[in-house]
Amino acid sequence: MIVWLRKVLIRLLLPVSWALRRRRPVETLCQFAETESDSGWQFLRAFEQCPDPAQRAHLFHNLLEEREHSSLFTELVERRGGRVRLSTENGRTSLLEQEGNMPAFLAYVHAGELDIANEFGAYARAVPDDDVRRVFENIKEEEDGHHSNLQGALLAIFPDPVKAAALVRRARRRRTWRAFQRGSKRIGDTLLAVWLVILYVVLGPFCVFQGRRRLARATRP
Ligand SMILES: [Fe+2]
Ligand SMILES: [Fe+2]
Repeated sequence: MIVWLRKVLIRLLLPVSWALRRRRPVETLCQFAETESDSGWQFLRAFEQCPDPAQRAHLFHNLLEEREHSSLFTELVERRGGRVRLSTENGRTSLLEQEGNMPAFLAYVHAGELDIANEFGAYARAVPDDDVRRVFENIKEEEDGHHSNLQGALLAIFPDPVKAAALVRRARRRRTWRAFQRGSKRIGDTLLAVWLVILYVVLGPFCVFQGRRRLARATRP
């Protein structure tokens, strides 16, 4: 439901926000460069701790593709005169540590890669620029591949399919809850910004005018 809602919002709002604010495309592409770089880092952490050599190879393959996705977004930013500043390792949260163990991590990223592939499809249809659309379309196909790879890796490390499916369902619930928290915070921040604009820009000058009138009345001989 949340992914469907996000896809609808991307299709409706992105063309408007890109048309209204000149810097918005660069900001969006910078966020994608950072997100993809972070995904690569998450796979690097998992690669270092994965016990199975065949699954390590899959994780390494995903790691390289995520790094490449990050460079593709960086190129798009630089072509538009922007500059990407990626977070250092200290600023990142390890999903492997957050989820507690390798099977839970694999279930979490397996669920996430499907959401990401769906969202990239929505971005590819919403963006007005051809070069950006092509990048989203190509990356979407590779994210679909990550989704399948990670299911294989999960079943190789955690061979009980019923328990593996339960782990994926749990991961989906956790992702939905986190997306809901992020969405609520964004709505709260937006409402706060609107309220402050009303308070300072609309009501502020009116209050100043009223205050001056009262002051003038009070000091009149
Ligand atoms: Fe990616
Ligand atoms: Fe991915």
